[in-house]
Amino acid sequence: MHPARASGPLIEVSDLSKYYGGLRAVDGLSLTVQQGDVYGFLGQNGAGKSTTIRMLLTLIRPTSGSIRLFGMDLLRHRSEILARVGAVIEKPDLYGYLTGRENLRILARLSGCRDKGAIERVLETVGLSARADDKVRTYSQGMRQRLGIACALVHDPELVILDEPTNGLDPQGIADIRNLILRLSREAGKTFLVSSHLLSEMELIANRMVIIDKGRKVVEGECRTLLDPERQVVHLETIDDGQALSILAASRWAPYLEDDPQGRIRLALNRSEVPQLVRALAEMEVQVLALRPFNRLEDYFLSLTQAG
Ligand SMILES: Nc1ncnc2c1ncn2[C@@H]1O[C@H](COP(=O)(O)OP(=O)(O)OP(=O)(O)O)[C@@H](O)[C@H]1O
Ligand SMILES: [Mg+2]
Repeated sequence: MHPARASGPLIEVSDLSKYYGGLRAVDGLSLTVQQGDVYGFLGQNGAGKSTTIRMLLTLIRPTSGSIRLFGMDLLRHRSEILARVGAVIEKPDLYGYLTGRENLRILARLSGCRDKGAIERVLETVGLSARADDKVRTYSQGMRQRLGIACALVHDPELVILDEPTNGLDPQGIADIRNLILRLSREAGKTFLVSSHLLSEMELIANRMVIIDKGRKVVEGECRTLLDPERQVVHLETIDDGQALSILAASRWAPYLEDDPQGRIRLALNRSEVPQLVRALAEMEVQVLALRPFNRLEDYFLSLTQAG
């Protein structure tokens, strides 16, 4: 039905920036979300998560860079793309004096959804059927958040974007949202981009994630790999990095080389392979000045605990 579906990433953000005067809210950010991902979008307060999400939804215009969704340029195919996206940004916009079902009806009408059963279905999905006729102002935070998600789901989007959906919820409310995301991902095959400032939470739901800091990408990848305690990333400093890099690229260590935003030599390997690497460098006569372990995830944790 959707020809763009099979090929390429579902979201492709390239070199995206948003400046507010001198402030770089988002700064050269690139990321890709594949179909079926629960993609964790992690960063501390002010990192640029909401700004990025607003650009993904065309609520604000990028200063530079490009966004492709479903293989199409976002700005050129805006309405076609957004018809396939559901989103809740920060707090859901709900009418407190209306009931849950009435809120959904308004939204369904606005999004041109003609499917009569859709409202009942999403109420059921988010577990609000029994409270659907109560006014939203009597809802708990968690119920409001779930109703917000129901609103995002009513037109049956393929991609769901949730900006900090568990903010301000108690542990039960957080678990409800988590289970809802996992269920919709597994059973309905929806793709999710979910922002959070808690790695511990993302670990439980995401298969891939990116961490951003001050609008820039720190690390992106499979959660399984990024969170693997055996994985070791090292930076290599040599007398001649250009030469060292070409030697490594031509050696059996080539697959371990990783891109580094600062252009340093970076390798990702198992901890147990580090001694072999050191030996190989000596054998290849690479003049090593330093070999530094590097773990941005740990740095991230550390900065979090220090800040907290
Ligand atoms: N309209 C705006 N005008 C000026 N600065 C802005 C505007 N919107 C966001 N910013 C700034 O951009 C930076 C990124 O903000 P953003 O809301 O994207 O962060 P965030 O990662 O969503 O943070 P939080 O976890 O607190 O929601 C912040 O420094 C913020 O103050
Ligand atoms: Mg935010």
